[in-house]
Amino acid sequence: MKKFFWGVATSSFQIEGHIENDFTQWEKEGKFKRDGLNPTYDNGSNHWIMWKEDFGLLKELNVNAYRFSFEWSRIQPEPNSFSEKALDQYERMIDYLLKNEIEPFPTLHHFTHPIWFHEFSPWHTEKSIDVYFEFVAKIFNRFKDRVRYWITFNEPLVWVMAAYGEGNFPPGIKNLNLMMDALYNILIAHSKVYDLIKSSSQNFQTGIANHFIVFKSDRDWFLLDKAVRNRIHKFFNLVIPDAFITNNLIVSLPPILKYEKEINLNNKIDFWGVNYYYRLFTKFKLSLSNPFYFYTKHPETDTGWEIYPKGIFKVLKMISKYGKPIIVTENGIAINDEKIRMKFLRKHLKFIFKAIQQGIDIDGYFYWSLLDNYEWLFGKSKRFGLVYVDYENEFKRIPKESFYYYKNLIQIYNQKLDVISTENKVV
Ligand code: BGC
Repeated sequence: MKKFFWGVATSSFQIEGHIENDFTQWEKEGKFKRDGLNPTYDNGSNHWIMWKEDFGLLKELNVNAYRFSFEWSRIQPEPNSFSEKALDQYERMIDYLLKNEIEPFPTLHHFTHPIWFHEFSPWHTEKSIDVYFEFVAKIFNRFKDRVRYWITFNEPLVWVMAAYGEGNFPPGIKNLNLMMDALYNILIAHSKVYDLIKSSSQNFQTGIANHFIVFKSDRDWFLLDKAVRNRIHKFFNLVIPDAFITNNLIVSLPPILKYEKEINLNNKIDFWGVNYYYRLFTKFKLSLSNPFYFYTKHPETDTGWEIYPKGIFKVLKMISKYGKPIIVTENGIAINDEKIRMKFLRKHLKFIFKAIQQGIDIDGYFYWSLLDNYEWLFGKSKRFGLVYVDYENEFKRIPKESFYYYKNLIQIYNQKLDVISTENKVV
């Protein structure tokens, strides 16, 4: 059996601080203030300064993998200039991980952009593909001698829906056709980067971290609720994986959106990253403009999500049908009650192990997140971390009970995984 990756996941903007990008720009312009929310960034969790202490925590946690992202705005502050200083710091960080036998899993795009990007080469225009490619090539050439796993995009569909659908992420354009054009360009950009990476060595592994939600029809006896469930599920969970197999990007959500375009992805992906958090219930709504309704039936966490551990098993089973290895690139909970976080971890890992026992090819698990951090529209109020960050007191780090609990679970599951691998050898 291959080595199983145990890790934690973060993203640059959410923890690093000392950043000026499209999000900080929007905050300055007051564009996030709506629906009673007013997220403030204020240097995230100050990780750019405190990274050594944070990486010490990774060592203490005994993980053998770490997912993080490169902050595009830091590396390419202007369209025609790259910051060697920023790349130097990322190099020091990666070297520290390698020295401590922690596999780096960088994400090349996790929601944020340099301030110039949406004017210069927005994702709904073809130009974005080359601009992203140039940024990635710079990083890839610098780190290809030390990084083996690459995640091209984090949750492309979630991002385009926020940025072009609801319009609550920059650039805040509400236009569903442009949303699909942006998604199309992102997927083409992924395939170009895939070719770049694979042409350098077939040993590199390149994937996308996708968000998956379990959808359940509210009233099982009501066919229209089921029809709504099937349409939403097909769109949200399958549109991207299907495009890799069928070479077509197809959305059928009449009367809201119809889209169909050929896209030559030719299954260019080495693993599917699974980000899984919760379940939603679907309902048919009597409305000519939008019959699709979904909601959280049992809100339990600080973000108002349901805790549904069995869902991770369902998602893993569903994605395994696409025939690629799977890595759980995110799974976590925003809660202050540590008992609930520990139970969340225990239950989700139980279902992941069950999937492995059933022969599903799962290569790793990353808890979201190492530290309390900036949770997008919610700001700092939602705490996903295994480590508490005291924002009022010099960003002091305090490992929570779940930190030690996860450490222990890793040990227990490593033994169980060893047993499976020995059994497989005997067979
Ligand atoms: C995103 C993270 C986010 C997490 C919790 C994922 O959708 O990739 O950036 O913090 O969910 O909401």
